[in-house]
Amino acid sequence: MSFDVAALRGQFPILGTLVHGLPLHYLDNGASAQTPRAVIDAVVSYETTARANAHRGVHALAEAATDLYEGARADVAAFLGGVPVEEIVFTGGCTAAINLVAHGLGASLKAGDEIVVSELEHHSNIVPWHMLAERAGATLRWLPVTDDGRIDVTALGTMVSARTRVIALAHVSNVTGAVLDVAAVVAAAKAVGAKVLLDGAQRAPHGPLDVAALGVDFYVLAGHKAYGPNGIGILWGRATELDRLPPFMGGGSMIGRVEKGRITYAPSPRRFEAGTPPIGPAVGLGAACRWMSGLDWDAIHDHEMGLVQRLLDGLPDIPGCRLVGPAGLQGRFPVVSLTLDSVHPHDTAQILDSFGVAVRAGHHCAQPLMDRFDIAGTTRISLAPYNDSGDIDAALLGLREAVRRFA
Ligand code: ALA
Repeated sequence: MSFDVAALRGQFPILGTLVHGLPLHYLDNGASAQTPRAVIDAVVSYETTARANAHRGVHALAEAATDLYEGARADVAAFLGGVPVEEIVFTGGCTAAINLVAHGLGASLKAGDEIVVSELEHHSNIVPWHMLAERAGATLRWLPVTDDGRIDVTALGTMVSARTRVIALAHVSNVTGAVLDVAAVVAAAKAVGAKVLLDGAQRAPHGPLDVAALGVDFYVLAGHKAYGPNGIGILWGRATELDRLPPFMGGGSMIGRVEKGRITYAPSPRRFEAGTPPIGPAVGLGAACRWMSGLDWDAIHDHEMGLVQRLLDGLPDIPGCRLVGPAGLQGRFPVVSLTLDSVHPHDTAQILDSFGVAVRAGHHCAQPLMDRFDIAGTTRISLAPYNDSGDIDAALLGLREAVRRFA
């Protein structure tokens, strides 16, 4: 069955927008994907029929809000492989989720312990661990990156030791699109009893996951990159791991009982959801997970990889264009970074914008990776299922024009 991209595009109101009087070619999905009508409708429905606080009232709207909020948790749990709902924590985003885990694990870290990250991590999967290392007197160890933009798992043998307490890595790179060899990481971690956290921000928008089967301990994702609203993210953790973590933020809803001299905490996930949660965004993310779960991902994967191939085939015709990442389709997702010898990435992105093509340019919050390749930044084309060959051709046209103008 071939994939009907036109029908899918019709579900995204924003894709009909004109920019500079031209059709929009939205290729900045790695920064934020667009939302389908199903998600917009779910949020509007909450706001117009059930807007009240969750887990706090007994009136009809409060009950409806609570049901929608907990229903969204079940939708996320289903999308992540049918894990128990108690293992799904709503957070403010991916960054908040990683900070929560770093803070929680920090309580048991001591001087001399080690945390393994990689040179291609997003800053959100570096800075919280760096801050923790500073607090605990622990050390960050850096897995190197291969010339084709992958985490070099052959270095696990030297980087992971009995001192390793946590390994925190991107499932898919937000710069190169390379996919992590999760099995190798999990094997190395298990051998020494280290915990594994995967940053799934760039993986989750490309199809359902079975996080428990991956063998990791924690998995995080961002709602706005997975066709949901802003201000919402997910921490999945095995119940045994979440139960061991102390709370991150204190406030309403995360308590068992508060007395003047003594406070007890609620079990997970409520222990990690202090204050009024982002109910509307959670409802939207639940709808996004339902929407994603209903798609034919085999067909979409073929479609996305076909577009990546079309892009890769076009790059050799652009003078001075260099790929930063895997040269083929093997072991990659549809995130493609490149540099042009004669043009700064910001200028490239601006020229692409004048063609209606939206991309991200710069260091992509991954400065250690830019240092690894000795570059200031890249131009990044990141795809979603609704992209089509017209988007790729517009990007290639814009890249050729950027080189022509700066030659
Ligand atoms: N983390 C997002 C990106 O890679 C913002 O663009």
